[in-house]
Amino acid sequence: MPPAAATKPDRRAMDKAAKAAAAVPPPPPPDPLKLLEQAWFDIRRPGALLRRGGRVCEVMASHITVRGLSEQARLGDLVELRSARGARTGEVVRIAPDTVIVAPYDRGEDAFINQEVFIRGPLTIEPQDGWRGRVLNATGRPIDGKGPVHNGPGGDAAGIPSPLARQRVETAFRTGVRVIDIFTPLCYGQRMGVFAGSGVGKSTLLAMLAAADAFDTVVVALVGERGREVREFLEDTIGVKTMAKTVAVVATSDESAMMRRRASDTAMRVAEYFRDKGDRVLLIVDSITRLAHALREVATGSGEPPVARGYPASVFTDLPRLLERAGPGAGGAGSITALLSVLIDGDDHNDPVADSVRGIIDGHIVLDRAIGEQGRFPAVNPLASISRLANRAWRDDERILATKLKSMISRFEDTRDIRLLGAYQPGADPELDHAVRQVPSIYEALIQSPADGPSADPFADLAKHLRGKNA
Ligand SMILES: Nc1ncnc2c1ncn2[C@@H]1O[C@H](COP(=O)(O)OP(=O)(O)OP(=O)(O)O)[C@@H](O)[C@H]1O
Ligand SMILES: [Mg+2]
Repeated sequence: MPPAAATKPDRRAMDKAAKAAAAVPPPPPPDPLKLLEQAWFDIRRPGALLRRGGRVCEVMASHITVRGLSEQARLGDLVELRSARGARTGEVVRIAPDTVIVAPYDRGEDAFINQEVFIRGPLTIEPQDGWRGRVLNATGRPIDGKGPVHNGPGGDAAGIPSPLARQRVETAFRTGVRVIDIFTPLCYGQRMGVFAGSGVGKSTLLAMLAAADAFDTVVVALVGERGREVREFLEDTIGVKTMAKTVAVVATSDESAMMRRRASDTAMRVAEYFRDKGDRVLLIVDSITRLAHALREVATGSGEPPVARGYPASVFTDLPRLLERAGPGAGGAGSITALLSVLIDGDDHNDPVADSVRGIIDGHIVLDRAIGEQGRFPAVNPLASISRLANRAWRDDERILATKLKSMISRFEDTRDIRLLGAYQPGADPELDHAVRQVPSIYEALIQSPADGPSADPFADLAKHLRGKNA
């Protein structure tokens, strides 16, 4: 075949294709608005490489206002405030149409106008078994100098179990503290408050209760404590043996309100993790009052009006929401028994925080300054203290005995002034005579310090002491 014959049809085909291509209009230039829309979508996508930030527009002592984040921020999200000297973390506490209010976690370097702010998503705490024996800060970072802690995978928090799925609270345990086991016995999953003025022995009593053998894991949240006291509390009062099964979450009084507010949440998350593994967990929060102070500081700083003695309404919804997470688990899961210390400012039992907490929990142990002043520690006032689950915890004979003891103590205390004035004559009232003879010995038998160790059978101890006295 001649070569010209072979090339002719090809050239024709090429010409045809060129004509056809010329007939198709070139693709239109991309619509700039569409491109912008796509870029906007990409930025807002979770995990996007490119993120939209905001800028600081107002700086206050405890809060920072940021513009440009209102649409992407969620309450509780962490944000990063960037500066030449590094980044600082805060949390979104209020979202308005144009601005977001952020409360910083640390009291580090001050923020400044136009500083860049980026959303980091919610704080995730994913506890591990290896957290036992460790001391962490409110964001779950170790502060005990024993190296890093492994975080996760702990899965999502189980949240508050549905009320009907929860096990019933009816299994009693011994705390080893005689005055508690006799007068206000406790059950697993119970939430109990220790109410007292400052320095009457709340922390010491809580640490003695933490030493009870009844628990697999102890979680301690020290909120707003003096820094000096933390080591004393963990090393001396809690002790090495209990510390081995304890996770401590600490936010001292000099830390920001956000850290103090976070500490109890983090501790509760740790307690939930161990409860969901089937552990019997004891959660101690010392103190709920200082937590309420932190909640107040954050809420008023973000613009909430105060309603009761300076406390905004959200404090009284945040506290029940936290405490409702304690208690028995669902189905076969373990339980969280919660012990909370409540500071009674100026020994005023009508403080709004004390009032609100008393309504949420299942009983209260009242410590009396006058009892402590007599050298009777733990300074529990058995007449003012109540465990709402005592009837499930006592055996029948224990209940009868405890009731008799209470009525004897009540006679003794009611006539204290008369006896001091010298108006008491023995022989006129045999019941009162009996109380006057026995109650000082009962009081003596109830004295217990952390060094004495737990009591295996409080009723037997009491009987032994009284027999010794009466012999
Ligand atoms: N069981 C006890 N045995 C002996 N002494 C005790 C006992 N409980 C408390 N104390 C004494 O009371 C003091 C104050 O106790 P603690 O620190 O526990 O009180 P607190 O109510 O927690 O105080 P704050 O309100 O300052 O936190 C202790 O230093 C100790 O001297
Ligand atoms: Mg204390």
